[in-house]
Amino acid sequence: MKSICSSWLRALALPMGLAASLFIAEHCEAKPTPPGKFAVQTKNFTLNFEVGEDGRLYQRAVGATDANEKLQRTDECYPQAGDGYIWEPALQVSHADGNTSTVLAFEGVTRTNDAAGRELTRITLHDPAYPLEVTLNFRADRERDVVEQWTEIVHHESGAVTLEHMASTALLLPAKNVYLTHFFGDWAKEMLYPITELVTPGTKVLDSKIGVRADQYRNPSFVLSLDGQPAETSGRVLAGSLEWSGSFQCAFDDNGTAIRALCGVNPFASAYHLKPGETFATPKMIWVWSAHGLGEMSRKLHSWARDFGLRDGHKTREVLLNNWEATGFDFDFNRIVGLYDPAKEIGTELFLLDDGWFGNKYPRVDDHAGLGDWQPNRQRLPDGLAPLATEAVKRGLRFGIWIEPEMVNPKSELFEQHPDWVIRQPKRELELQRNQLVLDLTRPQVQAFEWRAIQDVLSVPNISYAKWDCNRYLTQPGSPYLASGRQSHLWIDYVDALYALMDKTAKRFPDTELMLCSGGGGRVDYGALKYFHEFWPSDNTDPVQRVPMQWDYSYFFPPLAIASHVTHWGNRPMHFACSVAMSARFGMDLDLNKLSAEDKAICAGAIGAYKQIREITQMGDLYRLENPHETFRGALDFVSPDRSRAVVFAFQLKDGQNVAVQPQGLDPARKYTVHELNPAPGRATIPQEGKTFTGEELMHDGLVPSCSHAVEASVIELGP
Ligand code: GLA
Repeated sequence: MKSICSSWLRALALPMGLAASLFIAEHCEAKPTPPGKFAVQTKNFTLNFEVGEDGRLYQRAVGATDANEKLQRTDECYPQAGDGYIWEPALQVSHADGNTSTVLAFEGVTRTNDAAGRELTRITLHDPAYPLEVTLNFRADRERDVVEQWTEIVHHESGAVTLEHMASTALLLPAKNVYLTHFFGDWAKEMLYPITELVTPGTKVLDSKIGVRADQYRNPSFVLSLDGQPAETSGRVLAGSLEWSGSFQCAFDDNGTAIRALCGVNPFASAYHLKPGETFATPKMIWVWSAHGLGEMSRKLHSWARDFGLRDGHKTREVLLNNWEATGFDFDFNRIVGLYDPAKEIGTELFLLDDGWFGNKYPRVDDHAGLGDWQPNRQRLPDGLAPLATEAVKRGLRFGIWIEPEMVNPKSELFEQHPDWVIRQPKRELELQRNQLVLDLTRPQVQAFEWRAIQDVLSVPNISYAKWDCNRYLTQPGSPYLASGRQSHLWIDYVDALYALMDKTAKRFPDTELMLCSGGGGRVDYGALKYFHEFWPSDNTDPVQRVPMQWDYSYFFPPLAIASHVTHWGNRPMHFACSVAMSARFGMDLDLNKLSAEDKAICAGAIGAYKQIREITQMGDLYRLENPHETFRGALDFVSPDRSRAVVFAFQLKDGQNVAVQPQGLDPARKYTVHELNPAPGRATIPQEGKTFTGEELMHDGLVPSCSHAVEASVIELGP
């Protein structure tokens, strides 16, 4: 290997390995590391790095045991295009002088701990021929085996440097027997199609090119399994989730000797011109490791998310009633207030007023007009939003509101006044989706406008909840604001400006709960979720579809963040619909005034039962027991952090026998009494009702649920 940093080492007058060791600063190693080697480590996961004789930084494939094998260019840690590396690069740069090659030499490592006890490792690399520096960041949460990784790039060249590829991560895995699980979907089918496939030579690309809502077709999350097909309770798995709501790319480049997982912003049409002294920070990639299968992997990630991935992750979520499925756009003050008493009677705690409350010159009476004009409609709500919120609070309900701040209908006063504020391509006919356009958030006036609109709405007294929607994606990615040479910045600058807005909102309204929604589940990722309390997984609330969909989301996202509402979608029995909603953040989207007495009683029973167990389902550990994609039913259980209580859910999707469900995660020695919650009317009592068993007995013998026919469900509490 050609040495690229000999002059740098000569200047230090140190042998290569020693130099590398000396530069590992601020870290107390329990025992000395061999020269030139260091690691990022959590309790059960290690990323091994090595500085080669050529001064480049290498990474040993995850889980590799052959640490003595000679390093090759294919093992390089963050490979750069243009100087010998022939596979998919992590970094591709055009320097100010036009040179399209980059070389990165190792410079040093620092380690620091943050207040939460996570260790941040920063590895600095530099181009020996150019003043360009790259820092690889790894923030390790030791107990949960979670590592967040991102990259920072800065230069001091004579002019702008163009970043063509700038991955957040380029992790190396062995090229043997690795399976990739990813998720495909569409509107109303988000996350519904899990695919598991062997990674084979070539490059498998999962990506999104739609700018503002990746999850519509593909969530930026996946699982790599190192011991064959993934399983819930065994095998080594490494899950990845990119903190980015914009266009992303996750490429799995298998060159026959190693697999490189390259994830980050989508390089497609996104060349970024970086000024001297400006730092480009990539989105963060979350890695979570488990040697005991998908179940443990999810529990670690959920626990991490409660602390760092979403807002108020340790605060129990209340039961919400939304008017969208009940009234659509057809309401006024009286109709909404008329929904409050039944909402309170049935036990809901929070009322959410959805779309249709604004617009005067162009009233928002359907989805053709009004978006952008955030003044309450004077005919429907003559005194604005405040009396609606006050009436709710008077009856003991909190009040929430729907907004879609990033959007505009051409039929709006906003568009009439500012036709140049929208994302569009010059000389092309405007392409509408749901009759609307996306405002150009790269423009400072648009940023100010959206911030004003959000503040005006959320400052209305007694509003303590908001649903932030986003009902279209980018199809004509042009910005009338950005200069012609910077059009490719739109994809990235839009998302950065959006996060700045979300961040300001979360800080200015710390007590306002926020739902992340995007025409269903079009925007579900940890980039946005950190500003929100929950997300709307899909407009599809058919509980039969929700069982597998929520199962899939739960690989990466904790159930307390997964909004699950009882509606009439699919026309399923009310008991089944309520039981499914109880397994996530329970809500309703029904006209309670039109429900039969029997269905009302089932809903009230479900809400009452949910309040008894929500501490367990929201704060406890989730065990996925029976995969609804594979069998005639889906089954889950949740166990409280102290393992004294648990709840088992069985959702029957096809007719079958009511064979026992085997719970997991119980304390084997502890005694649990069995009690079916809110049993369906007319069904026989479960055989173990009221009896007490040890955790070991229950996990071994299982529990026979009361359901045996399609669209029946059973929710069973195990308690002291
Ligand atoms: C989107 C959301 C729905 C509802 C409508 C309102 O489609 O996903 O829940 O809020 O917008 O227009």
